[in-house]
Amino acid sequence: MNNNLKCTAVLLAAGKGSRMNSDVYKQFLLINQKPVLYYSLQCFETSSLIDDIVLVTGKDMIEQCQRIIEEYQFTKVSAIVPGGKERYDSVYKGLLSCKDTDYVFIHDGARPFVTHDILKRCFEAVKLTGACVTGIPSKDTVKLSDEEGFVKDTPDRRNVWIIQTPQVFSYPLITNAHKKIREEGTEGITDDAMIIERVTDVPVKLAEGSYENIKITTPEDIAVAEAFLKRLDQN
Ligand code: CTP
Ligand code: MG
Repeated sequence: MNNNLKCTAVLLAAGKGSRMNSDVYKQFLLINQKPVLYYSLQCFETSSLIDDIVLVTGKDMIEQCQRIIEEYQFTKVSAIVPGGKERYDSVYKGLLSCKDTDYVFIHDGARPFVTHDILKRCFEAVKLTGACVTGIPSKDTVKLSDEEGFVKDTPDRRNVWIIQTPQVFSYPLITNAHKKIREEGTEGITDDAMIIERVTDVPVKLAEGSYENIKITTPEDIAVAEAFLKRLDQN
């Protein structure tokens, strides 16, 4: 509890991981003998900022999640709820399952390397306007293309950020924005900040993430994650 403000993590694990090409859904793949999902659960569980965790997963994955919670004795998971077809459907279901909360930390269960420092930076940032996203400055030059595959524009790299999660919002702000976008159309929505950008005038603050806060997406990410864990073990 922070100054009587309640913070809930909405942890997303309802995806099918099609780009991973694995029989086991990627949130349950083992890295250093623990499931990918364990690592973000552990970070939220041990963070003094977080009061409870709403875990969103597939209908057919609820039991598997319960087993992880029991095995590692996580105590903050207040609900396990079935997700939806798209990521924003899963987020919406998670939001509707939050109880009397002030801020929500929406996080991809496929990002095991979120840290307490990132959560703290997000919490400071979200207090400014009620909306913040984690990101890191792009290391590469980014170009915008036209429909024919020709370069149209090159934005100044200093203003280009690669977006990660957590994305943290005032609960009423993000819940109302989700309700509104469902009426107006969800075409092209890939993250939660986009919903705030489309249906509100609220500025979204960027909070610094980390280059290690990767999303496990394709098979080579597993090798990268193992390497990160090995380095952490050595320190
Ligand atoms: N997610 C979710 N519900 C969905 C889709 C995605 O909860 N309908 C979650 C995933 O479990 C993941 C996070 O959102 O933790 C980021 O999504 P992504 O990396 O795209 O995961 P998947 O959709 O599972 O993978 P893919 O796009 O390769 O199928
Ligand atoms: Mg996906």
